[in-house]
Amino acid sequence: EYKRRKEMLRAHELAAKYYNHILMNTEHGKLGLRYLEERGISRITIEAFQLGYAPDAWDVLRKFLLKRGFAEELLFEAGLLSEAQNGKGRYFDKFRHRVMYPIHDAQGHVIGFGGRVLSKDSGPKYLNSPETPLFHKGRHLYNLHRARSTMRSEGRVLVLEGYMDVIAAYQAGVQNVVAVLGTALTNDHVRLLQRNVQEIVMMFDGDAAGQKAALRSAEVVKDADVKTRVATLPEGLDPDDFLKKYGKDAFVRAIQDNASSMTTFRILSMRKDYNLSTDVGREDYLKAVIQTVLTDVSSPMELEKQLKELSDEFGVSVDALDQEVRLAKKSAPAG
Ligand code: CTP
Ligand code: MN
Ligand code: MN
Ligand code: MN
Ligand code: MN
Repeated sequence: EYKRRKEMLRAHELAAKYYNHILMNTEHGKLGLRYLEERGISRITIEAFQLGYAPDAWDVLRKFLLKRGFAEELLFEAGLLSEAQNGKGRYFDKFRHRVMYPIHDAQGHVIGFGGRVLSKDSGPKYLNSPETPLFHKGRHLYNLHRARSTMRSEGRVLVLEGYMDVIAAYQAGVQNVVAVLGTALTNDHVRLLQRNVQEIVMMFDGDAAGQKAALRSAEVVKDADVKTRVATLPEGLDPDDFLKKYGKDAFVRAIQDNASSMTTFRILSMRKDYNLSTDVGREDYLKAVIQTVLTDVSSPMELEKQLKELSDEFGVSVDALDQEVRLAKKSAPAG
């Protein structure tokens, strides 16, 4: 209920402040600070994102919040504490020995955390808040509350995969950036974004997971009433890596000039499943593109553009392709 939610929000706000204090002002925090410095994150950026550090201890946050009158059971339900496996009712800090990234809702309240390990070999790289009354990962976007005004003035948002990708872009001066929280884009995300922008540009990591997330996201946005494009990154790089390697100008170009429409992205990404050096493979590919992608294209101009490109490349007339689209639409009515 309302009062409990408010308590949970207050606990999160205090936790974010406390983790940030530990990072910036204590001996324990030095490890975290060094980690962020090595990744090129400035003090100003650390403060802007309210980054923090959860020390390598069992109940630092627990003690801090209990002293301020919070009930353990509420902190557990809020995802800040974990319950001991054996003894029911015994709790300890959920986040330990991690750099902490507070996650805010659209109004700017802290509703959850992501926590990153400092070294590769100590468990899952990121630990995120569980689903709680405040936090639902498919419904929130990292950094939305900070990005919103720039999103509105530019009419465009850049959707990335990771916390560090957003932070690196922001530090480079690209402010209309958000990240999905370890999922593909959902309809809830699209609704949140659509209120603020006319165009969504998605830039996923140049790895297998990123490619998969991009395709799943493409399925989600294909019916949305907003222009969507996909910017692809060179093999093996994510936006943070790309910025470090090629700089801001190349990054902005990748967004503005080198992003393909969602339709083009879907068409291109089907290529790997067909052997285009054989007649049969080419025909199967064209049929599959028509069935699964072109029947979704509602704009006649966009459809014509895609048909022309396919016609040029595959030596089939636009007319014939257009006939195939009509037939495919008839046999599989909209949906
Ligand atoms: N993620 C997660 N849990 C994991 C791995 C990833 O929630 N075990 C989410 C995080 O939000 C992460 C995003 O998916 O930021 C992208 O994952 P990945 O590319 O693996 O991480 P990076 O953001 O590139 O992390 P870093 O640069 O810190 O290594
Ligand atoms: Mn929520
Ligand atoms: Mn990745
Ligand atoms: Mn990544
Ligand atoms: Mn990364």
